[in-house]
Amino acid sequence: MSLSAGPGPGWLLFSFGMGLVSGSKCPKNCLCQGQEVSCIGKQLTEYPVDIPLDTRRLSLKDNRITTLPAMQLGLLSDLVYLDCQNNRIQEVMDYTFIGVFRLVYLDLSSNNLTSITPSSFSVLSSLVHLSIANNPHLLYLDKYTFANTSSLRILDLRNTSLQTLEYTGFSHLTVLQTLYLSGNPWKCNCSFLEFVIHLRVSLLNQPDKYNATCAEPAGLMGWPLAEVSHPLQYMCITHLTNQDYTFLLLIGFCIFAAGTVAAWLTGMCAVLYQNTHRRSMGDEPEEEPMAKVEISRQLFLGRSSSDQGRFPEVI
Ligand SMILES: *[C@@H]1O[C@H](CO)[C@@H](O)[C@H](O)[C@H]1NC(C)=O
Ligand SMILES: *[C@@H]1O[C@H](CO)[C@@H](O)[C@H](O)[C@H]1NC(C)=O
Ligand SMILES: *[C@@H]1O[C@H](CO)[C@@H](O)[C@H](O)[C@H]1NC(C)=O
Ligand SMILES: *[C@@H]1O[C@H](CO)[C@@H](O)[C@H](O)[C@H]1NC(C)=O
Ligand SMILES: *[C@@H]1O[C@H](CO)[C@@H](O)[C@H](O)[C@H]1NC(C)=O
Repeated sequence: MSLSAGPGPGWLLFSFGMGLVSGSKCPKNCLCQGQEVSCIGKQLTEYPVDIPLDTRRLSLKDNRITTLPAMQLGLLSDLVYLDCQNNRIQEVMDYTFIGVFRLVYLDLSSNNLTSITPSSFSVLSSLVHLSIANNPHLLYLDKYTFANTSSLRILDLRNTSLQTLEYTGFSHLTVLQTLYLSGNPWKCNCSFLEFVIHLRVSLLNQPDKYNATCAEPAGLMGWPLAEVSHPLQYMCITHLTNQDYTFLLLIGFCIFAAGTVAAWLTGMCAVLYQNTHRRSMGDEPEEEPMAKVEISRQLFLGRSSSDQGRFPEVI
């Protein structure tokens, strides 16, 4: 009886839907104004429910949120600004931002990100500002991480544990203007060369340029990335390693050995030939010098006699 008297389930559903569409709801403790929702410093441990669906700006700064639920976030298809600074987010996945493809501003700084899967930002082709600074357990970024964020102008990678970046992951970010790289343990090995050359020749604005330094190898420790391309080039292109020296030494030894064997063989052949020749001629080796002298004497005499004979003719 009471059911038929009060509002039915259909009405409930309708009002719920109206509430979502009209944006009349607001998460507990948060501030909703226009299309902006602000939940700054509310000790939230989870992504808040009841965020109006037409929200364009959402700030979840300074809370203790550990995950961004893709489903709920995906309802906010008009979202352009998302600030998650200073939370406890551990990972972003390929599908985390799949529904918020209009994002222009994304701040994930000061979280506890350990992994960013390669396609995490792949739908964010309008993204202009991205910060993943201050994520001390972030060790690695795939080279395809920024493959589709072609509108990116500001990228902040300060204070992570990144050791290396690949040039191919950045070469297509043609409108990138500002890049922050300080506070990372950069490993300046030969794989990094192409990227640091890119840093030097590009017109990128690097406000923390002289604080973005190599941590490894020991010989390049403290060198700013902006200046390390020359020594790295020397190390990687002209400088030979011990392995190269061993290789060269081995090649040299082979050439030397081959030469020695060839000379020895030639010598042997010459001696053998001479011996068989002598045997066939029946000559005694001791008589040879005498025979030579004899022959040359005869030649000399013969020539002088013929000369003597010829001179008078010419005169
Ligand atoms: C951050 O992540 C690391 C590694 O997963 C973990 O050991 C650490 O406890 C986390 N810190 C916080 C504050 O959640
Ligand atoms: C990048 O964007 C293009 C077009 O917007 C899309 O076809 C492609 O699948 C995206 N790449 C990834 C890795 O999602
Ligand atoms: C990076 O870490 C240093 C030292 O902990 C800190 O002073 C600096 O403010 C941090 N940078 C950013 C962008 O937060
Ligand atoms: C350089 O260091 C990076 C990061 O540790 C590593 O992935 C890469 O294989 C190294 N390259 C060379 C040539 O040692
Ligand atoms: C670089 O680091 C030094 C000391 O850590 C600091 O005083 C300076 O403000 C930093 N400069 C920039 C541009 O981050």
